[in-house]
Amino acid sequence: MGEEADIEVLLGSWDEFGQEARRIRFEVFVAEQRVPAELEIDSVDPLCVHALARCAGAFVGTGRLLPDGHIGRMAVLRSARGKGVGRLLLMSLMEAARDRGDVQVELHSQAHACGFYERFGFEAIGPQFDDAVIPHVTMRARLASDRG
Ligand SMILES: CC(C)(COP(=O)(O)OP(=O)(O)OC[C@H]1O[C@@H](n2cnc3c(N)ncnc32)[C@H](O)[C@@H]1OP(=O)(O)O)[C@@H](O)C(=O)NCCC(=O)NCCS
Repeated sequence: MGEEADIEVLLGSWDEFGQEARRIRFEVFVAEQRVPAELEIDSVDPLCVHALARCAGAFVGTGRLLPDGHIGRMAVLRSARGKGVGRLLLMSLMEAARDRGDVQVELHSQAHACGFYERFGFEAIGPQFDDAVIPHVTMRARLASDRG
């Protein structure tokens, strides 16, 4: 908990955050997980809300919220994992979705990360499938409304 106090999550556009987000994604997905670089780039980024997590002055995590309510590209640098960075990124993106009126969010979780998303109310809604040669599961979470 003490460490979480040192983590800050910023929300912004691809123009503002793209360079840092791309650097983190490449380190995690391409260098670490061996996802082909060409699969990492798509045309959706300029349309998304992007989250960047900063810890001790360095950007260490990222994620994005699509216009259709999908969350994706959640990535925390290996050296920064287990400190609550992923939690704050996901909560910020879920809050951004709720604030704009979305009632649910969906994502394609890598199979190994389902337990992480379950902590935040996500449930699997379909069978496992392969994407970029990595097993994935579609998950969904309802967003609590503060409008009653
Ligand atoms: C998955 C990922 C984003 C989690 O980020 P993180 O910063 O390590 O997670 P946090 O420290 O915020 O963990 C929050 C909670 O989830 C738990 N958790 C973290 N990763 C988990 C996992 N893979 N499975 C189950 N629980 C997990 C933590 O133990 C913690 O539990 P607590 O509430 O009891 O303290 C990070 O491991 C990552 O970037 N992995 C590589 C890329 C990847 O696979 N991304 C997911 C694509 S779908």
